[in-house]
Amino acid sequence: MAIANHGASVPDLIAVGSEQENVEEWRKRCNIDQSSQIRLVKLAHMRYQHPNLDQITTFLQGFPLNLMYGQAPAEKGEYPEKLTINYEQDKPRTRRFQRFEPGPAAVHKLGHFGLCTQDFEKMVNFYTMTFNIVPTDFLYVEKEGKKHNVALFAHIDRGADYVDHHSFFISTNATTHVHHCSFEVHDFDTQKLGHQWLAEKKYESVWGVGRHILGSQIFDYWWDTTGNMIEHYADGDLVNNQTPIGYGPAGDESLAVWGPEVPAWFLK
Ligand SMILES: [Fe+2]
Repeated sequence: MAIANHGASVPDLIAVGSEQENVEEWRKRCNIDQSSQIRLVKLAHMRYQHPNLDQITTFLQGFPLNLMYGQAPAEKGEYPEKLTINYEQDKPRTRRFQRFEPGPAAVHKLGHFGLCTQDFEKMVNFYTMTFNIVPTDFLYVEKEGKKHNVALFAHIDRGADYVDHHSFFISTNATTHVHHCSFEVHDFDTQKLGHQWLAEKKYESVWGVGRHILGSQIFDYWWDTTGNMIEHYADGDLVNNQTPIGYGPAGDESLAVWGPEVPAWFLK
């Protein structure tokens, strides 16, 4: 008998699966000294606009980064309305019709930034030792019965406060380069309307719309006009210091639960 498809919002301790590690134990095992760390609050901006991508690649070999201190949060602006959704047995939206304004997807914030590196371990050690950057999920490959981590989704640790599943993504690669940066949008419809608008303007789609597994985001990747990969996402997971670190096998099937086929070169 076929099992009907379904979705559920599953507690992190269960969703992460059997290969998990408590963050405190990970800190001890890796000799992470929190008292000597630079404590980050948020990912604020990403700067790699440059007319010559070859030069950017060279520039990023040394991975310079900017830290900003002493900024006050901006006043909150107006947020888009949350849609009321009707389900089969629960229909709160009565005599109100769904209407949309076609156009580009307004972005709320820079959500995360992905980096490919030739020296994965060194890079992970640097970021997790120097800053309050904590692994959320590691992906590994198995060689001769041993597991080797090859990719990391990491969050900014703010203790019990809830933060995005990942603000950083680091992946092992034959070359060192930026993989993509990702901007949060309001919801699924916003994303699909944005997708349609970009397609109509003849921009080049990379991959999407789909739903990631790690982080759960609904994703949509595009090339910008200078060859940088940009993502829109909505509905990402939140974690805190009680969320265990997950470990899972690397592979295309770990990237999405639904969506178009992953382009073969997506992680190149
Ligand atoms: Fe992403």
